[in-house]
Amino acid sequence: MNENKIKDLLRKMTLNEKIGQVTQLATPFFKGASDQGQITGPMKDINIPENMIQLAGSVLGASGAKETKLIQKQYLQDNRLGIPLLIMSDIIHGYKTIFPVPLAIGSSWDLQLAEKSATIAAKEAAVSGVHVTFAPMVDLVRDPRWGRVVESTGEDPYLNSVFAKAQVRGFQGTDLKHDHERVASCVKHFAGYGAAEGGRDYNTVNMSERDLRESYLLAFKAALEAGSELVMTAFNTVDGIPASGNKWLMRDLLREEWKFDGVVISDWGAVKELIPHGVAEDEAEAAAKALSAGVDIEMMTDCYANHLQSLIESNQIDTSLLDEAVMRILELKDKLGLFDHPFRGADEKREAEIVMCPEHRQVARELATKSCVLLQNKGGILPLHPTRKVGLIGPFANNNDILGPWSWLGAKDDAVTLYEGIMKKVPASKLVVANGCGIDTSCEIELAKAIDVAKQSDVIVLALGESSDMSGEAGSRANIQLPHVQLQLVEVLVELGKPTVAVLFNGRPLDLHGVVDKVDAVLEAWYPGTEGGSAIADILFGEVNPSGKITMSFPYSVGQIPVYYNNYNTGRPKGAINAQERYVSQYLDCPNEALFPFGYGLSYTSFDYSNFILSSDTITPDKPLTIKVKITNTGDVAGEEVVQLYVRDLVGEVVRSLKELKGFKKIYLQPGEEKEVTFMLTEEQLRYYHADLSFYSDEGKFEVYVGPNSRDVMALSFELRKTKGE
Ligand code: IFM
Repeated sequence: MNENKIKDLLRKMTLNEKIGQVTQLATPFFKGASDQGQITGPMKDINIPENMIQLAGSVLGASGAKETKLIQKQYLQDNRLGIPLLIMSDIIHGYKTIFPVPLAIGSSWDLQLAEKSATIAAKEAAVSGVHVTFAPMVDLVRDPRWGRVVESTGEDPYLNSVFAKAQVRGFQGTDLKHDHERVASCVKHFAGYGAAEGGRDYNTVNMSERDLRESYLLAFKAALEAGSELVMTAFNTVDGIPASGNKWLMRDLLREEWKFDGVVISDWGAVKELIPHGVAEDEAEAAAKALSAGVDIEMMTDCYANHLQSLIESNQIDTSLLDEAVMRILELKDKLGLFDHPFRGADEKREAEIVMCPEHRQVARELATKSCVLLQNKGGILPLHPTRKVGLIGPFANNNDILGPWSWLGAKDDAVTLYEGIMKKVPASKLVVANGCGIDTSCEIELAKAIDVAKQSDVIVLALGESSDMSGEAGSRANIQLPHVQLQLVEVLVELGKPTVAVLFNGRPLDLHGVVDKVDAVLEAWYPGTEGGSAIADILFGEVNPSGKITMSFPYSVGQIPVYYNNYNTGRPKGAINAQERYVSQYLDCPNEALFPFGYGLSYTSFDYSNFILSSDTITPDKPLTIKVKITNTGDVAGEEVVQLYVRDLVGEVVRSLKELKGFKKIYLQPGEEKEVTFMLTEEQLRYYHADLSFYSDEGKFEVYVGPNSRDVMALSFELRKTKGE
C-alpha cells in the first residue's frame, strides 16, 4: 500500500475505529483465543465496552500458528475496513528454543551469535504468528538489586549499543514486508528505567540530562539506527514526569531530535499509572497527557478507549494527534505486509518443522557455553577429569528452572538440567547427586544425603542459585546473596575438605561472599536456557574453554551499590599520591572496587598482552589513532580472549569517566599462538556532552588502555589536537 492509500483508509475510519487502533489488549479479550496467552501485568481494572474490544488494533501475548490465525480470522470477519490485527509478544531470549538470558548473552561478547539467536527467536515466533517482539530491552543497568538487570546486556553504553544493533538486525532482517520469518522489534523501556532508585522496580528515576544522554540513551539511539520499528515507554519518571506522559522525551527528543517516525507504545498500564504517579487527576487527563506526549498505543488500560472520543469531541485534544498515531500504526501494519497477508508467517507446517529444531538447539548450546563466565579457578581445579567421581549437590543439581524470566513459551521440560548434561560426560558410576536443600528451604534429610554424597566423591560440584522468579520484572531483592540455606550448605560441605566447584544459576551479579571465599572454582552460568545443562557440562569437562566476561560488575558488598567500572573520579580519590588516610572517598569496612569488575572472566588457558603501541602520540579529526597489541596464548589449551579497549579523557569541561569502553575484539588462539589485535580510535569517539549539553571533543591529554578486563589494563597516553573550527 502506498502512503496515499493508507491516508485514504484513515479518511474512511470512524472516530471509534481510530481509537480502536490505539488500544492494545491482551489475548483473553479476543474471540478465537483459546488460552490466556502471556499475561505480564495486572489484569484488573479494565472496563472497555464490547464494541471497542472488537476494534482494538493490536493484541498482546498471543502465539501459536493455529491460535493466531483463528484470532486474526475472527477479527477480520468483524472488521468493516479489513484492517488486520497486529500481534505483539515478548520474545526476549527465544520463543520455544530458549537462549541464555540477555545478561548472559552480553557476557558472550559475541555479536554474531547474539544476532543469530535473535534471528532464530524471530523465526520461531513469526511462523507461530507473532508480528512484533517487545525486544530488545536496552536499559543500562548498574544496580543488581533490580530484578530486570537480567534482561539487559549490562552496564556499558557502548556494549549495550552494539548488542542492541545486533539484536534488532536479528529480529527484523532487512525486508519485513516480504520476509515473513522475521518480526518487527520494539526497543524498550524508553527511558532511564534501569536507574530505578534503590533497585526497586517501577521506582523513581532521578538523573541529569547529561547522564541520561551520555549513558542511558545511547543504546536506544543505536537500536533506532538499526531500524527498530517501535519504541516502548518506561514506567518510571524522567526529570519528574513519568516517561509515558513525557512530552520532552517523546516529542522533543525522540521525534524531533532523533527523527523517529515509528510507533510508540506504552508499557502495560503505564498510561493509567499517570494517576497514581500524581500527574493526572483521572483517566481522561491521563489519556490526554499520554497522547499529547506521543504515546501512539496504550497497552492494557482503558484511558484511550473510554476517553479519547469525548476529549476530541470537546476539543480538548486535537484530532490530528489521533490521526498521526493511527497513521503510524497503519504504516507499521503495511510494512509488515499484513494488508496483503494478514496471517503473515503463521504456518502450522513450518511451525512443526522449525520450532525447537536440532539446529536451533545447537545454537542455544553454543551461545550458552559462550555466556558462562569462569570467575574463579583456584589450583586449576577445572576442567574436571572424567575419571574423578563427581558429587553433584544443590537445588540446581537436577533442576529445570534454568530458562530464566521471559521464557513464557519455553517449556522447562525441554531444558537439559546440569545432571542430565553431566550424565553424558561420565559413566553412571562416577556421578552421585543430591539436592542438599531447596532454593530457599532447608531439609535435614536432604542435607544428610548431600553430606553422604559428598563423602563418596572426589570432587564436589555445587549447583546453586536463585529461582527464576527471584529476578525479572517485579523481582527486586534487597539482599543479593544466595539464599541463606544455600550458604549453609556450602559451609557444611567445604568442611569435608574436598575440591569444590560452584556453578551458579541466577539473573543478576550476586554478592558472592560465603561462596568465593569457600570454594575453589566458581562458574557463573546465569540462566543458560534450553541447552543449559549440556553447555555447562561442556565447560566443566573442558570440551569448551570458557570465554565469557561479565558485563555488569559483581559488588564486593551490597552496600557499595551502585558499583560500576565507568564511574567518575572524586576530588579525594583513594590511593592518590599524598592522599590522607582518613579524608578520602572510601568505605571504612570494604574496598571501593567491585569484587569482579566489568569485563572480567577467566579461561582454562592464559593470555599474555605485549607490544602495546600507538601509531602516534596525537590524534586529530582527520588522523585516527591505530592501536596495536600482541596477544599470546601462553597456556596448554586453545581458547578465546576478549581484548578490550578503554579510553580516559584526563581533563574535560565536565567530569569524565575513569574508563570508557571504546572497542573490543574476540580472538581465538591455539596454545603458543600469537596474534596482533588492531583497533582504530577516531576523534569522534572522544566527543562528549559539555556543560550546555553540546556534543564535541576537547583538545588535550587522554589515556588509552588495553586489557582482559576493565581493571587489569596496560596504559599509554596521547593528545587530541584540533585546528581551529573543528
Ligand atoms: O514488554 C513488557 C515490558 O517489558 C514489561 N511490562 C509488560 C510488557 C508486555 O508484556
